Amino acid sequence: MKAAVFHKVGDISVDNVADPKIEHPEDIILKITTTAICGSDLHIYDGFVPQLRDEVLGHEFMGIVEEVGPQVTRVKKGDRVVVPFTIACGRCFFCQQGYHPNCMNSNPEHYGPDGDLLKNKGGGMFGYTDLYGGYNGGQAEYVRVPYANAGPKIIPDGLDDEQVVFLTDIFPTGWSAVKWGKVKHGDTVVIFGSGPVGLMAQKAAWLHGAKRVIAVDPLEYRLQKARTVNNVETINADDDDLIEKIRSMTDGRGADVAIDAVGMEASRTFLEKAKAVINAEKGTSKVLEMCAEAVRRSGTIAVVGVYASPYDNFPIHRIFDKGLIMQFGQAQTHVYIDQCFEMVRSGKVVLDDIITHRLPLSKASEAYDMFKHKTDDCVKVILKPELDR
Ligand SMILES: NC(=O)c1ccc[n+]([C@@H]2O[C@H](COP(=O)([O-])OP(=O)(O)OC[C@H]3O[C@@H](n4cnc5c(N)ncnc54)[C@H](O)[C@@H]3O)[C@@H](O)[C@H]2O)c1
Ligand SMILES: [Zn+2]
Ligand SMILES: [Zn+2]
Repeated sequence: MKAAVFHKVGDISVDNVADPKIEHPEDIILKITTTAICGSDLHIYDGFVPQLRDEVLGHEFMGIVEEVGPQVTRVKKGDRVVVPFTIACGRCFFCQQGYHPNCMNSNPEHYGPDGDLLKNKGGGMFGYTDLYGGYNGGQAEYVRVPYANAGPKIIPDGLDDEQVVFLTDIFPTGWSAVKWGKVKHGDTVVIFGSGPVGLMAQKAAWLHGAKRVIAVDPLEYRLQKARTVNNVETINADDDDLIEKIRSMTDGRGADVAIDAVGMEASRTFLEKAKAVINAEKGTSKVLEMCAEAVRRSGTIAVVGVYASPYDNFPIHRIFDKGLIMQFGQAQTHVYIDQCFEMVRSGKVVLDDIITHRLPLSKASEAYDMFKHKTDDCVKVILKPELDR
């Protein structure tokens, strides 16, 4: 089959690789109909999350069940399903409590309690390096999906792929951020990052009753997208008065909730890059620090942007003095996928308005380059193997 294979930093090509096979009685093989590129893929592409051998990338996908293992009861051949991006057994200590990204069984080689840099990681993820289980991903014609009784969600006819494919990751991720931020009726929510995840968090914030939603990003075209599809207020991240503007919109207090939908690969000055080298940091924690400034006292910060190292000079004093509540991590997709699906099915939210590019799988390399460099006003790329057939 054809698949987008990561070789080394900045080098992804569409190659012929072996077809996936059932390896465990709870596996299914999925024929991919739609897959997407995520900001999280860029962390591998850019070398922030290391991968030393070739791997098929892609953790956002949906498709048709092609083959089922003997213990699969939840789906059958021919079902159309969306698959959560984290791989989880559904029955361990953490899965039972809804913390599927911390599944104790899906990443046997590298799992551990520490959450450290190169060992002791959480549960597995599709196409997300050996540290996260070494599973091949779904930017491919076919993919093996483990624990098929726990993850895949059947999608009824009548909803097309583009309407539902973002249930695989980014809509439940935006939804998790809003849940973790405890957004309630009448809140002002500031969301850093207006990429695909930020846009989904904006949608989720409205659905939870926010009074004002403020998007922050250095890229004007992404702020324009946010205004057009989500009717939010926007402030450019490079505005020197950013924090003052947010405070002046909230009686001087700051936002009730701040969401970090950027993570470590935030835009940086030369000095910020030098600091990262000196302190052996991966990227920067500047957006998280901005969240701590932009949020009001006793407010809440939710962090879905990815961080992968310790960071020096982190403003723990401010977080203490202001009495902030913070929650971080991979999204609880397994927990929220049904609620998120219901929002789409009932027409309360539209997700496909963020798609800017629809390409055949064979164009994955060009698509990565465009998404990384933010050219051609790219916001979200979906790849379709069938466009090659
Ligand atoms: N926690 C999870 O489960 C989960 C799931 C999906 C994605 N993610 C993470 O979410 C983050 C965003 O993903 P994405 O797909 O939207 O990626 P993206 O790269 O398309 O979007 C990031 C956005 O942040 C903006 N940005 C850069 N510097 C900024 C700054 N200083 N202030 C405000 N905005 C800034 C960029 O211009 C860009 O629009 C990534 O770190 C990704 O790994 C996490
Ligand atoms: Zn993703
Ligand atoms: Zn588990």
